[in-house]
Amino acid sequence: MVAETNMGVQNLIYPLFIEDGKGVKREITSLPRNYRWSLDLILPEIEECANAGLDKFVLFPAVSESLKDPIASYSYADENFYLHAIRAIKERFPHIELMSDVAMDPYSSDGHDGLMQNGRILNDETLPILAKMAIAQAQAGIDILGPSDMMDGRIGFLRDALDSEGFQEVSIMSYTAKYASAFYGPFRDALDSAPKTGDKKGYQMNPANKREAIIEAKLDEAEGADILMVKPAICYLDVIQTLRETTNLPITAYNVSGECAMIYAASANGWLNYEQSMAEMLLSIRRAGADGILTYFAKDFALNA
Ligand code: PBG
Repeated sequence: MVAETNMGVQNLIYPLFIEDGKGVKREITSLPRNYRWSLDLILPEIEECANAGLDKFVLFPAVSESLKDPIASYSYADENFYLHAIRAIKERFPHIELMSDVAMDPYSSDGHDGLMQNGRILNDETLPILAKMAIAQAQAGIDILGPSDMMDGRIGFLRDALDSEGFQEVSIMSYTAKYASAFYGPFRDALDSAPKTGDKKGYQMNPANKREAIIEAKLDEAEGADILMVKPAICYLDVIQTLRETTNLPITAYNVSGECAMIYAASANGWLNYEQSMAEMLLSIRRAGADGILTYFAKDFALNA
């Protein structure tokens, strides 16, 4: 009765990694308990999660190096296995909520989220590429787009592009306050998507800044975002709380790969109790004010719930 916060499977979004091919279930070295799946094996995995009450997923593509180029053209190519997978998953499980990643890095030979020229990111020239990617994902049947690129003005640009193509009902969960964080390491290992040169500090936020998150939130809200995200979660609980007090939109927080990896590693060594520390971490994100949490713990939490 006196618990101020609750944490349930309905609050969770499960990130899954998919690659082309058949019969693939490859554990990610720096993110144990998580895998790169091929479509044939991800379908039963999603079914198992759905049976445990977990019905929201975000899908990330691992693209082979030979398909990457400077303009990320594979991201909207007809033969793109990721788009095919979105179609197949939504056909098989129409009632799950499927979310995507919109950014150039999985498809870019530079490994950056935006278009790179002479060592610089071209913000405005990136937007039409993101829009092509977004429309291709909408055509494939995605429910919620997740622009994770941090280019300025992309939410309004994507909203306009979607609306003019007849996709008024596709929602946007904006990576609103995405920090240039060291905690994305295992994710980049999972997708082989680390930047080839430089870092992402030109477009991702400075971990020193909180007021800037409010500026980003107001822009995204005005541009038409449906959900605002803070990422990472654990080092940024104060940012989640501040945005909760700033906006009436739903807020999600991304409990990123490095945050989960710490608990996997410590519990594998017997230094932490896995279930308890995971549950406490998730509860703290809810207490800070997040409605939803993207977390690699989602399935284990659901199975324990
Ligand atoms: C890139 C993207 C990243 C993550 C989600 N989308 C990594 C990055 O910005 O380099 C990280 C998620 C995680 O660490 O779990 N568009």
